[in-house]
Amino acid sequence: MEIGQLQSINARIAGCHACALAKGRTRTVPGDGDPTAELMFIGEGPGFYEDQQGSPFVGRAGALLDELLARIGMTRADVFVTNVVKCRPPNNRDPEPSEIAACEPYLTEQIGGIRPKLIVTLGRFAMQYFVPGAAMGRSHGKVIQSGVHRVYPVYHPAAALRQGALARVLREDFDRIPALLATSERPAAQATAAAPTGRADPAKQLSLL
Ligand code: URA
Repeated sequence: MEIGQLQSINARIAGCHACALAKGRTRTVPGDGDPTAELMFIGEGPGFYEDQQGSPFVGRAGALLDELLARIGMTRADVFVTNVVKCRPPNNRDPEPSEIAACEPYLTEQIGGIRPKLIVTLGRFAMQYFVPGAAMGRSHGKVIQSGVHRVYPVYHPAAALRQGALARVLREDFDRIPALLATSERPAAQATAAAPTGRADPAKQLSLL
């Protein structure tokens, strides 16, 4: 997407009061990176450091994300990173369905504008945004077609920091990303406009590849 559209989305997020998370935030965290990226990452929501700095994944989970990107020869500048919710939930609690719904138009516009070849969801909330009810244990590392978008769920880096066994799984799932990118196409602009995320009827639109 054009830089102007990105700036417009960021400005609207900065002024957003669509849910109660606006009251507790220090800064909004709209997302960072290349607005023309082929690869997009979606996490859960800003934590303490992200709220302070206004950028996604700047804490410990972010350091692990950087390490994983380096494994596949990439840096943050090559990708676009955002979250399902753009403001920090108090005490890092899970985002509420109503908060995710209030923030959805921003994520929809980001995805539709960037039209990445592959969307990597980090953790359960971002995965369930596309596939309600999906279980991480079964779905991680498998490409899901969600409308016009290819979605690739992986464990959240913070979960991998807590549980060493998941770190290995996360690395293995990450290492498949280059091959997936090589065999994925960008959705056409008209297609994303018509079906921004493909979430309208998941039962009809999802198929495991
Ligand atoms: N965890 C997330 O899901 N997102 C961030 O931006 C940071 C930590």
